[in-house]
Amino acid sequence: MAKTTEIAPNVYRISIYAQSGDLQFNHFLVKDDEPLMFHTGLRGMHPEIREAVSKLIHVSDLRHISFSHFESDECGSLNEWLGVAPKADVICSQVSALVSVNDFIGREARALADGDSFSTGKLRFRWCKTPHLPHGWDAGLLFEETQKTLLCSDLFHQTGDVEAITSGDVVGRSCEAMKVYQAGILAEYLPYTPLTAQNLKKLAELQPKTLAVMHGSSFTGDCARALGDLNAMYREGFGRGRKTAMNSGRGKKILHPQ
Ligand SMILES: [Fe+2]
Ligand SMILES: [Fe+2]
Repeated sequence: MAKTTEIAPNVYRISIYAQSGDLQFNHFLVKDDEPLMFHTGLRGMHPEIREAVSKLIHVSDLRHISFSHFESDECGSLNEWLGVAPKADVICSQVSALVSVNDFIGREARALADGDSFSTGKLRFRWCKTPHLPHGWDAGLLFEETQKTLLCSDLFHQTGDVEAITSGDVVGRSCEAMKVYQAGILAEYLPYTPLTAQNLKKLAELQPKTLAVMHGSSFTGDCARALGDLNAMYREGFGRGRKTAMNSGRGKKILHPQ
């Protein structure tokens, strides 16, 4: 059963825990004059998520559906949502629209360039282009400028049925999850590219107050520092040399890099 928690004013985290993967799938509904959803969720979860959304808004009033990159947990049930919310537009990166989404939905998505913004009423969102972060050529993230909530997709990925929001060490938890994944078929979760540090720095400069995380707890606290620590963890775990921590069990070393 989905659990709904308001993690910032009018920002609702709708969470489903999948025991088989020991993993939460979190979907964010932002209530405003024009309600917005970030992550549609998997097709198999659609009835449960729709039921949870229907307790917050009339589903047919949903006006914007957005996600980071083309992948089933991000946007697998897009067509199901468009079926029940026909007034909604689909907001994604230009690459996503061009290479996947327009074909997938059989109409034009609203493709945003880096820095493009739009209002949903009281709130204002900005598209942040982040190629290959967390993964996918088409990746981007959405930042709500008024309350400073960063909808950050797979960044800070944690396993377990954890609390909705924390001020604790989400980078440490994410490091532990990545170490486990490195030993199995989910290895190489993200590429550490020449753009990774730059993208994470760009996100930190937005000075988010809340990080809305797809897998695991959302975070409130010093988000800029968390993004800096995340870069250090990714660099050491996935970057050149990667001698470290992620494979040796010395995870703590990389949690407080400087
Ligand atoms: Fe992903
Ligand atoms: Fe994901």
